[in-house]
Amino acid sequence: MSISKTEFARRRKNLMALMEADSIAIIPSAREQQRSRDTAYPFRQDSDFFYLSGIDEPESVLVLLPGRRHGQFLVFCRERDKKMELWHGGRVGPEGMCEHHGADDAFPIGDIDDILPGLLEGRNRVYYSMGRRAEFDGQIMAWVNRIRGMESTGAIPPGEFTDLDHMLHELRLFKSAAELRLMRKAAEITTRAHCRVMQSCRPGMFEYQLEAGLQHEFSMSGARYAAYPSIVGGGQNACVMHYVDNSDKLRDGDLVLIDAGCELENYASDVTRTFPVNGTFSAAQRALYDLVLSAQLAAIEEVKPGNHWNQPHDASVLILTEGLVQLGLLKGSVAALVKEEAYRPYYMHRVGHWLGLDVHDVGDYRVAEEWRVLEPGMVMTVEPGLYIPVDDLSVAKKWRGIGIRIEDDVLVTEEGCEVMTAWAPKTTKEIEALMAA
Ligand code: GLY
Ligand code: MN
Ligand code: MN
Repeated sequence: MSISKTEFARRRKNLMALMEADSIAIIPSAREQQRSRDTAYPFRQDSDFFYLSGIDEPESVLVLLPGRRHGQFLVFCRERDKKMELWHGGRVGPEGMCEHHGADDAFPIGDIDDILPGLLEGRNRVYYSMGRRAEFDGQIMAWVNRIRGMESTGAIPPGEFTDLDHMLHELRLFKSAAELRLMRKAAEITTRAHCRVMQSCRPGMFEYQLEAGLQHEFSMSGARYAAYPSIVGGGQNACVMHYVDNSDKLRDGDLVLIDAGCELENYASDVTRTFPVNGTFSAAQRALYDLVLSAQLAAIEEVKPGNHWNQPHDASVLILTEGLVQLGLLKGSVAALVKEEAYRPYYMHRVGHWLGLDVHDVGDYRVAEEWRVLEPGMVMTVEPGLYIPVDDLSVAKKWRGIGIRIEDDVLVTEEGCEVMTAWAPKTTKEIEALMAA
């Protein structure tokens, strides 16, 4: 594990410092999800739960009790079980939670109904992210009601419920040195995977075969899972934002858009490259590609401390609109076209999102109604694109069905920014050279 025990403890301490006195935070783990009959999806821990503990087991609950003399960090988890462990692999168990994960105390998950009401009693405020897990929401209400039922004996039920998200996600937004090391490593594996498939691509291959090349590189580098389903879209499939069928044959003369990133120790990378199936851009493809690249570089220029969240997006909109006018896909004055969002049929998403434990990571984009100001330690993607619908009769035929996106992972630094995924080639010249090699 690359994040140390001390760092997980520091995260809990930072969160508890933001919590009110006499409060309690309750964070349930992710659940195992059934894929088919007796088969489960690979388990992926809830990002908030992982961020605060590093624990990778289902059926667990974290409890934080700032200021509690008999222990501030409690864990409920599965008990050790020789037979279950023989079939399904090891469990940490309550003792292990104290020994390896810094819990002050740990209990079998089966005892939670008996123990949790006692921990809630007398705490003014409960921090809990309501509404995500109906079953667990119900359990919390049942515990509170149990205390209400004992008010005549002097028990005091909690008076306030507060969403934990805002406070916790504010902490997650700023990446530590250890997190950045991991994210750079994920970025490196991902860029290697993109290079590999650029080199292996030939007309007549299937999209899923390029996906296999990505997965090979991820797994061989110790990142078993993609951070999200890989998108491999040849030709007009590139114009479907979340295309994941990856089932079509790649045709000579088409572009292919690949949006794929590995997940390493739960940290995501998220990279898109678009390249010609046969290794050479056509004139029309090159013109649109160079435009998207200019927009991406202009947007990256705007990623620096003091600029606000929307400046990179605004930069991409301006460059793309100017270019669409120059190439004849839009007609009119650039200022008016920007104002009326005439680019939206061709550029319908935002320039990026926060990146971290989740691919669309947590953190507010606005603060008090204003776009958030960028600060060192934040990581975001920069990913403008152009997608010309195949049935758009308002543009010349040569543009139709072309979809292009270029996406990098960018860290805000003291001086400006660091493109963590710069390794993957993105000028037409670099791409053609790599594919010819
Ligand atoms: N791969 C999802 C995204 O680029 O946001
Ligand atoms: Mn992406
Ligand atoms: Mn993205």
